[in-house]
Amino acid sequence: MEHPKTAISFENVYKSFGTQAVLQGLDLEIPSGQITTILGPSGCGKSVTLKHVIGIEQADSGRVEVVGHDMSNVRQRDLITLRKRIGVLFQSSALFDSMTVKENVAFGLRMHTKMPEAEIAERVHVCLDAVKLAGTEERMPVELSGGMRKRAALARAIAMSPDFILYDEPTTGLDPNTSNVVGDYILKLQNELDITSVVVTHDMPLTRRVSDKVALLFNGKAVVQGRLDDIESSQNEVFQLFVDGRLG
Ligand SMILES: Nc1ncnc2c1ncn2[C@@H]1O[C@H](COP(=O)(O)OP(=O)(O)OP(=O)(O)O)[C@@H](O)[C@H]1O
Ligand SMILES: [Mg+2]
Repeated sequence: MEHPKTAISFENVYKSFGTQAVLQGLDLEIPSGQITTILGPSGCGKSVTLKHVIGIEQADSGRVEVVGHDMSNVRQRDLITLRKRIGVLFQSSALFDSMTVKENVAFGLRMHTKMPEAEIAERVHVCLDAVKLAGTEERMPVELSGGMRKRAALARAIAMSPDFILYDEPTTGLDPNTSNVVGDYILKLQNELDITSVVVTHDMPLTRRVSDKVALLFNGKAVVQGRLDDIESSQNEVFQLFVDGRLG
């Protein structure tokens, strides 16, 4: 198989908040066109890592590169263009609570494109249909179940036809069945849209299902990264502790 290109890379990245060191020499490569899963105990810096990719946080030192852009040096214009290519499923507040489902999915299109309203309505319908939420257009987020909210957020993330999707704990708080459904969509979107996905999670069944590549973050570094099979057969001690729920 041809070696995939690197879409996103972290090179020796350090990031602290006050006296708290979070990233401490993070080296991580996210291959293009694949699903990479980032694992790690709570508070280890997974969400902070994702925030570097969209330029919400900047490295204190080291280099974060997103499709060739040095994120500590990116021009505002390029950053805006880049963000339009990245769909994000945030860990909390996945939806705007004061907007209907339809308005939520249309948000990015209204904000960043000059698409006419009729086309937006059509696009919103297609995206909601893709996650089996057709008919919920006029509902408010509080009127949806947790699993439906995640799927609505997914519809919003794909509305702009992104080249990347970043998922921050897409199955947290969902029962195993609903988690499976979300996993199905992650795979489906990956196959249909040929995108680069990054999934942050603690969910090992999900990790097993969707990952082309896995990285485990601990003490500010990726202690191990590669194919899950290879990591498991290497019997990496830190990885085993994480899987057993005894890391952190
Ligand atoms: N803007 C910020 N200001 C100060 N501290 C922050 C900020 N963002 C994150 N932190 C701290 O950095 C550490 C890593 O946070 P992060 O949200 O990346 O953890 P995480 O690995 O995503 O955890 P979880 O699995 O619980 O979501 C935490 O201790 C957090 O309190
Ligand atoms: Mg987090």
